[in-house]
Amino acid sequence: MIFSRVIVAAGLFVTALADGPAIVSALEKVTGDTTSLNDDVSSWNGGLLGTIPIVTGSTTLLASIHEGQKTAEASEPLTLLDAIGVAVATQALSKEVNTTISTIIGAKSKFDHLFLSPVILINLELEKKATVGFSDAIIEKLPVEQQPLGTQLVKPILDSFDLAIDVYNPF
Ligand SMILES: *[C@@H]1O[C@H](CO)[C@@H](O)[C@H](O)[C@H]1NC(C)=O
Repeated sequence: MIFSRVIVAAGLFVTALADGPAIVSALEKVTGDTTSLNDDVSSWNGGLLGTIPIVTGSTTLLASIHEGQKTAEASEPLTLLDAIGVAVATQALSKEVNTTISTIIGAKSKFDHLFLSPVILINLELEKKATVGFSDAIIEKLPVEQQPLGTQLVKPILDSFDLAIDVYNPF
């Protein structure tokens, strides 16, 4: 009886420990997908065929952000140590988002040429919306004292999206 209770307690402990790393790994997946998208856009010669990996990569990225939100929503509240790991992973993502969005802004004339800029705009808006969902889900799980820092760390990511949305939005 005591033994089985110890096992249950150990099981709960493992579950709680796994939540921070699960969110970090979800963030790393989003970062990896962001880097791939950057590579596809920056190596794109402006031809129609080259838009296939870009559109595919963009769809994969959106799915990863949604998955990340689910992981964060299913997570237990994070410890301070977890929160630090999540903050480090968020900063790495933020840097990658800055690079990728800069690349996407730089490629606008090529997308214009193929009349694809409205599609890119829709994707940027969907990705921003998904990012808000993902980050809100994470921030909710941070210790209350760390929540303002969480909001602060996400802000540059949302600012990057806004910059690109302004460039791609003709209105
Ligand atoms: C990238 O970061 C720099 C430095 O913070 C900033 O000035 C620039 O606007 C950012 N660009 C994008 C696309 O977010």
